[in-house]
Amino acid sequence: MTVSVDMGAKAGGQRAAFDLEELLATRLLVQGNSGSGKSHLLRRLLEQSAPWVQQAIIDPEGDFVTLADRFGHVVVDAVGSERDLALIAARVRRHRVSVVLNLEGLEVDAQVKAAAAFLNGLFDAERDHWYPMLVVVDEAQLFAPAASGEADGEARRVSLTAMTNLMCRGRKRGLAGVIATQRLAKLAKNVAAEASNFMMGRTFLDIDMARAADLLGMDRRQAETFRNLERGQFVALGPAIGRRAEAVRVARWRPAAGAPAPG
Ligand SMILES: Nc1ncnc2c1ncn2[C@@H]1O[C@H](COP(=O)(O)OP(=O)(O)OP(=O)(O)O)[C@@H](O)[C@H]1O
Ligand SMILES: [Mg+2]
Repeated sequence: MTVSVDMGAKAGGQRAAFDLEELLATRLLVQGNSGSGKSHLLRRLLEQSAPWVQQAIIDPEGDFVTLADRFGHVVVDAVGSERDLALIAARVRRHRVSVVLNLEGLEVDAQVKAAAAFLNGLFDAERDHWYPMLVVVDEAQLFAPAASGEADGEARRVSLTAMTNLMCRGRKRGLAGVIATQRLAKLAKNVAAEASNFMMGRTFLDIDMARAADLLGMDRRQAETFRNLERGQFVALGPAIGRRAEAVRVARWRPAAGAPAPG
């Protein structure tokens, strides 16, 4: 059975949708400046695919905790030790529950350590528990920075390895990385390069535009159009969504009844 995950409308009015099975095999990179609508896009993807696939979300801002209300995700506040988090991750894989790792309010260094412990726990799960799972990492440049980030050296090294494992070696273990970043130039190259699907939102800096053009195999002039995208508009390309780069207006996700609008 083909599961198609509706994301929104293309310029001509046709629907834009991910083929879920293909997405699980080929991963996704989302980039766009602050306010371009990345977290909103991730939320749309998660809500539309929640009935079909297990999900884990590394959530630095607490943007995704309300998934618990409508879809039954378990929210894990990253307060325990790294060992605790690894054990929780193993349990998540065994019981096939969807989970939000809430890192809101922690220092960057603690966020990085917690995310690494949790991702490693997912990755190191027993072979019997290698069921397919979307692993969404928002603000991925925090966990896989291109150069020395705010976090200390050791924490950064560990989380970069965890992110590299997720993106390079995760597929066999059922893990499909979906990563979002404000600044492509700040994301480790080897991590970005493992995604075959892209959704590129509004981008201002030349250095990010150049990296995006390289990844998508576009010339720089074509990539200049990323400057003119509106909030919620992304150029989509990849085996799971379309072989030709096309602008997509991401549809709204519906906030839970009574919940405040996101943002
Ligand atoms: N497709 C959309 N339709 C309607 N509203 C949207 C859409 N995309 C984003 N928004 C709204 O725009 C605001 C910014 O979006 P969002 O938080 O997703 O940006 P972001 O790219 O994640 O920014 P940051 O990098 O700062 O986290 C939010 O209030 C969100 O609800
Ligand atoms: Mg965001």
